[in-house]
Amino acid sequence: MKETLKGKVALVTGASSGIGEATARTLAERGAAVTLVARNEERLGFITREISAAGGQALALETDVTDKDSVRDTVERTVEQFGTLDILVNNAGLGLSGRVAELRSEDLRYVFEVNMLGPLNCLQASLPHMRRGGRIINVSSVVGKRAIPKVGGYCATKFALNALSDSLRVEVADRGITVTSVYPGTTRTAFRENSRRTKDEKRGWRPKGITPEKVAEKISDAAENGGRDLYVTLPDRLFIVGTTLAPGLFDRALRRWAKD
Ligand SMILES: NC(=O)c1ccc[n+]([C@@H]2O[C@H](COP(=O)([O-])OP(=O)(O)OC[C@H]3O[C@@H](n4cnc5c(N)ncnc54)[C@H](OP(=O)(O)O)[C@@H]3O)[C@@H](O)[C@H]2O)c1
Repeated sequence: MKETLKGKVALVTGASSGIGEATARTLAERGAAVTLVARNEERLGFITREISAAGGQALALETDVTDKDSVRDTVERTVEQFGTLDILVNNAGLGLSGRVAELRSEDLRYVFEVNMLGPLNCLQASLPHMRRGGRIINVSSVVGKRAIPKVGGYCATKFALNALSDSLRVEVADRGITVTSVYPGTTRTAFRENSRRTKDEKRGWRPKGITPEKVAEKISDAAENGGRDLYVTLPDRLFIVGTTLAPGLFDRALRRWAKD
C-alpha cells in the first residue's frame, strides 16, 4: 500500500474493536503514526503490537473519552511521542435501543456523554496542537441523518454530533483545518452487543451490513483529503436523499417496523 499519510500523526478513539480498530490499522498501513484510544487496555496492546510488527508506528493509551482530564493527557502524550497531531478520528460510541416513550434519562445521558461529549473533549484537547491541513473526522451514522423507530435516543446523539461538526467546520476553516462527518450504515462489528437496551427488547431484523474495513477506507480517505459529508455506500446516500425529499413517505414505510 502507498504510504500516503507518511509523516502524519493520527489519534483514533474506540480503537479496541470494530470500525476504530480497522481505521487504526488502515491509517498505519498508509504510513501515519497512530495513537489508539479506548478503555480495553489489553486489546489496545494486542492491536498496537500487531501494527508495530507490520512495520507501523502505534501507541496504545487507555482512555475513557468521557474523562476530560484523561483525554487531555492522552493528546499531550501523543504530541510528546510523535511531535504533533494532524488527524483526530472521533469514533468511540455506543448504541441505545428503546422506544422514545420508554427511554430512561440515565441511559440517554450516558450515551450522550460518550457519543457527543466524548468527541467534544477530544477535539477541544486536539485543536490547540493542530496546524494547517489538520483533519477532524467525526463518525456519525446514516440514522444521524434520518432517525428511525426504536433507536431514537441513539439517533439524537448522532444528530447532536453532526451539529457540532457543522459549526466547528466553519469556525476552523480559516485555520486550514477540515471537519468531516462520516455516515456509515449497518457495519459488522460488536456494536449491537455493546448497545444499551431500555427493556429486554428482542434484537429485530438488521441488514447484513458492510465490513468495518470498508468504513475504515472511507475514514482514511477523509484523513488524506478532507471532505464534508461522507457516505460509505451508494444505498446509504440514496436513503438519505429519499428521506429528505419524501419524509412522510418514509414515516409510513417505517410504521410497520415500529410495530414489531
Ligand atoms: N456498527 C454499526 O452498524 C455502526 C453504524 C453507524 C455508525 N456506527 C458508529 O461507529 C462507531 C464505532 O462503532 P463500532 O460499530 O465499531 O462498535 P464497537 O465494535 O462496539 O466499537 C466501539 C468502540 O468504542 C469504544 N468505546 C466505547 N465507550 C468508550 C469510552 N467511554 N471511552 C473510550 N472508548 C469507548 C469501545 O472500546 P472500549 O470498550 O475498549 O472502551 C470500542 O473500541 C460508533 O460511534 C458507532 O456509533 C456504527
